[in-house]
Amino acid sequence: MKAIEIRNKFLEFFKNHNHSVIPSAPLIPENDPSVLFNTAGMQPLVPYLLGETHPAGTRLCDYQKCIRTNDIEEVGDNRHLTYFEMLGNWSLGDYFKDESISMSYEFLTKSLKIPAEKISVTCFAGDEDCPKDTASAEAWKKVGIPEERIYYYGKDDNWWIAGEEGPCGPDTEMFYDTGKPACGPDCQPSCDCGKYVEIWNNVFMEYFKDKNGYTKLKNKNVDTGLGLERMTMIMQGVETPFDTELFKPVMEKLEELQKIDSIESRRIIAEHLRSSIMIVCDGGKPSNVDRGYILRRLIRRMIRHMNKTQIDLNELPNIIDLNIETLKEMYPDLVKNKDMIKEEIVAEKDKFIKTLNHGEKEFQKQIRRLEGTKTVPGSVVFRLYDTYGFPPEVTQELAKENGMEIDMKEFEKLFKEHQEKSRQGSEKKFKGGLAEQTETTISYHTATHLLHAALRKVLGDHVKQSGSNITEERLRFDFSHPQKMTKEEIQEVEDLVNEQIKKDLKVTCEEMSYDDAKASGAIGLFTDKYGDRVKVYTIGDFSKEICGGPHVTHTGNMGRFKIKKEQASSSGIRRIKAVLIKD
Ligand code: ALA
Repeated sequence: MKAIEIRNKFLEFFKNHNHSVIPSAPLIPENDPSVLFNTAGMQPLVPYLLGETHPAGTRLCDYQKCIRTNDIEEVGDNRHLTYFEMLGNWSLGDYFKDESISMSYEFLTKSLKIPAEKISVTCFAGDEDCPKDTASAEAWKKVGIPEERIYYYGKDDNWWIAGEEGPCGPDTEMFYDTGKPACGPDCQPSCDCGKYVEIWNNVFMEYFKDKNGYTKLKNKNVDTGLGLERMTMIMQGVETPFDTELFKPVMEKLEELQKIDSIESRRIIAEHLRSSIMIVCDGGKPSNVDRGYILRRLIRRMIRHMNKTQIDLNELPNIIDLNIETLKEMYPDLVKNKDMIKEEIVAEKDKFIKTLNHGEKEFQKQIRRLEGTKTVPGSVVFRLYDTYGFPPEVTQELAKENGMEIDMKEFEKLFKEHQEKSRQGSEKKFKGGLAEQTETTISYHTATHLLHAALRKVLGDHVKQSGSNITEERLRFDFSHPQKMTKEEIQEVEDLVNEQIKKDLKVTCEEMSYDDAKASGAIGLFTDKYGDRVKVYTIGDFSKEICGGPHVTHTGNMGRFKIKKEQASSSGIRRIKAVLIKD
């Protein structure tokens, strides 16, 4: 069974069980600046898990594109992936453990025809925060899983939360027995030996965790995640995801092109290329910060492995074509964006190959100089980064290949110093008026604050900015709101903004601690993106927002504000495009 057939069967199954199929959100989250990529199907649904009403109802299912980057360095073995697809179904205060478990069981054994005796399950063992999950165990028994294939584990294994804070709860996980011999008398699903493969995770999200501990959510929700690549592997009876149709054509092509044979390099190239294609398709661009840097690392590590195994780098566009060909049935958007994807990845390759060989030579020179020692100093790692564009992880890998380690701590220290210097540099540049800000973009910036405040006044306090983008021609503003705005609401927001412009309100800026800013009621993206001290811009008594500026000093000359478009951006997120007209 092909991956796409598994996906279709999954969505069909849940549709038949009264779930609405919702679209996959982009890999780059638009409503959550605190994470770099969507890492689970539940991420775009957080507001609804917290109690907001979802326009599509209380039973949802989808496939979600995900990136998890904790294990980039592990890619190359037989199972780690940075990109994967998660199939999920949700109950937002609708069904709970019994129905969730019986549906999962039915899907696995009836739709996928997995023999029931191949399935083991795990449940939460209980602790001081939450009792033992006997309800799930009972539900498993009811569908026919015998007691001896039900295991109980603590929070490390059977509790799920995305990060440190948020909706969470005990989970029940399903494991597939590969039939490999047990590694010992104690072999069980939690064991790493490869006999058991986790296939599905049903989280019973009824708690919310923050730094003060656990509280109950408004609803008892269900959040499930089934890893498509892994299931495909199982359904095809192969040992690794690289042996499925998702990777095979590219793996075979790479084998043909490699002058130095290395399956590890082939996996790294194929895996990182797939992730890079998916990220670029969803708007990612290589850069030196945040998600752009992850993308850069993926591409550069891939290029180094192409170089290392002597694949002609001019083949890259052909390999991208082949990869898109392989994936297009699953992700039709790739075809539309093919040229852009190729351009972006090839441009990054071109940037890197200019320095790759020199950097490797420099590395070898340093190694000879360091003969006898086991650690590459941070200063060398930094030089390779700064002069040759080697992500430290690439140098780390080079070092490992030479039986050495790198001094990551010293590198990080040097890197921070360097960042601090360039930050000071760019502030100076800005004070000197050299930054790329014009009178028009500054007006748009202030208009964004007015719009944000007006939306909250008209639609309610649930409106939160999830992104914005300003050009000389327009502003774009993304915000959380569950439904389309009515004509009247749009008019009201527009009028409200124009009133403030007419009033010629004074715009003032105060610097204060982040905590004071929050306490003063200033709105903003509350993430650790901000430092300890922040600037708060106040516009009359209409808007107060944390922001780096710059802004107009008075609203009077900004022009007439007009909303040109209001549309959906992603699930639960609306997008407004607006202009300032100088009459
Ligand atoms: N959110 C759960 C997971 O990612 C289903 O495993």
